[in-house]
Amino acid sequence: MKIGVFDSGYGGLTILGDIRKALPEYDYIYLGDNARTPYGSRSFEVVYDYTRQCVEYLLKSGCKLVILACNTASAKALRTIQQKYLPYNFPDCRVLGVIRPTVECLGDITISRSVGIMATEGTIRSNSYTIEVAKLFPDIKITGMACPMLVPLIENNEYDTPGAQYFIEKYVNALFAKNRDIDTVVLGCTHYPLIYNQIKKAAPEGVNIIRQGSVVADSLVDYLARHPEISSALSKNGSIGYFTTEQPDKFTSSASLFLNENIFAEHIVL
Ligand code: DGL
Repeated sequence: MKIGVFDSGYGGLTILGDIRKALPEYDYIYLGDNARTPYGSRSFEVVYDYTRQCVEYLLKSGCKLVILACNTASAKALRTIQQKYLPYNFPDCRVLGVIRPTVECLGDITISRSVGIMATEGTIRSNSYTIEVAKLFPDIKITGMACPMLVPLIENNEYDTPGAQYFIEKYVNALFAKNRDIDTVVLGCTHYPLIYNQIKKAAPEGVNIIRQGSVVADSLVDYLARHPEISSALSKNGSIGYFTTEQPDKFTSSASLFLNENIFAEHIVL
């Protein structure tokens, strides 16, 4: 059985890259719902429906474990999938998200106990980061900034342009205007590692900028060590298959921006 990695589009490839670096021996399937991206401004109901369909595809394709490598899906669909969908449909399979592992690492990083989250509108509106942080580190204050223009700019390969620079600076400045004590900013959208350097430059000097890839990969290594019933069911041939709900030629050309390798994707219909 395989490990499935899901995102609304290409962003999850930034997570997949780090997961495969940490755990190269396993077999993976990546699914991008490129035909329906972006999810960031969609309602709970729609994000849940889309995410559940994609998770179902991955589970039916032989995945034992699926990582929602998308903050928006983790924020809006993960809990319902874990509590209401899996137990009745795939009781032996597991679906994990990216928000909890990100929050777990914050306790040791922030000194000012003020953390900024840059993410899609959906993730910020869901309050998921604030809720998870309150459970683990009630002394940490979360300040959110919805950045609705960033995913479309990245998905369209327009992220290294003066237009993108304008929006990056606008969002970073607005975040620090809300709370000057922030010493750590989470890139709470799996697309944002592509604009890490621009965000780092726009933020005040010395601020920690957290990319989720290595955090999620470390957490998965730990999860598999604690769950031998899952890891022993996973096959180890080091293979990877890419699937997209859009036309595969577009995926193939854009995906190389996110992973420095040649990718050939297959088109699927959900
Ligand atoms: N990459 C997704 C995330 O981490 C969002 C992309 C989208 O809006 O679909 O939130």
